[in-house]
Amino acid sequence: MKIRKAVIPAAGYGTRFLPATKAQPKEMLAVLDKPMIQYSVEEAVGSGIEHIAVIVSRGKDALLDHFDRNPELEQFLREKKKTDSLREIERISALAEFHYIRQREMLGLGHAILQAEEFVAGEPFAVLLPDDIFDCPVPCTRQLITAAEEYQASVIVLGRVDAEGTKKYGIIKPHPVAERVFRVDDMIEKPGPERAFSDLAIIGRYVFTPEIFRSIRNTEPDSRGEIQITDAIKLLRQEQPVYGYLFEGTRYDCGDKLGFLKGSVSLALKRPDYQEEFRSFLKDLDL
Ligand code: UTP
Repeated sequence: MKIRKAVIPAAGYGTRFLPATKAQPKEMLAVLDKPMIQYSVEEAVGSGIEHIAVIVSRGKDALLDHFDRNPELEQFLREKKKTDSLREIERISALAEFHYIRQREMLGLGHAILQAEEFVAGEPFAVLLPDDIFDCPVPCTRQLITAAEEYQASVIVLGRVDAEGTKKYGIIKPHPVAERVFRVDDMIEKPGPERAFSDLAIIGRYVFTPEIFRSIRNTEPDSRGEIQITDAIKLLRQEQPVYGYLFEGTRYDCGDKLGFLKGSVSLALKRPDYQEEFRSFLKDLDL
């Protein structure tokens, strides 16, 4: 099983981030000095992915521009001898081969992924949600790909959550099969602590076999009219085993305002170039 392709769904409205997302894509909000989506792209590339399809919608042109060449800016930086910045912006456009696919109506994450069926063309593939920024010793998607190759199956990333987390994420019924690896025996979306099977939540990375597309097509929309990927994975499970992998590393859920703030602060504290000054600024705050 060789995984060369990734899908990054980025067509959503980002309502949890309004008004910041009224006229700019959520995925372009910068965490430190990079737009959120660039973290996912770099993780995919660091995991061996060569082709990336970004699912977009109206108003998302900034995403296309960000990963495109910008000859005028390059020329300007060259003339001003800003070599480091020049190298960085040239590197971004050469990261991978990008494809952009329109989701015409925002009918949920499952529906967004379905738009990539032709791009995927019958191969297993990775999905990265750009809201989640992972900081891991081995790129999170690489960890999933390794497990998918070993089990020749779809693998979803798992993280441990507290009682509050069971209200926010899909929770799996796990059957342990190896260190960090669980067969997914059932799953339930946002069950709350009373109904949760475990504390293992489905977060924003997946590797799917191509059969997921049939499952998505057979998935009924939920009460809000959205096709949820969790429901499609439930159907896929009836056909073939699906595994969960408890990733090693740290995840920052930057999809809402508070998570974004926490992620930005935590990542700033790890950045060698401003770590020290930022730490002393935080220490001096009157908390
Ligand atoms: P989210 O639910 O986190 O993103 O979906 P959202 O819908 O943009 O944000 P809120 O909930 O309204 O604040 C996870 C990812 O899936 C994409 C989003 O762009 C986000 O990156 N997505 C979601 C789509 O591409 N299409 C959809 O129909 C829904």
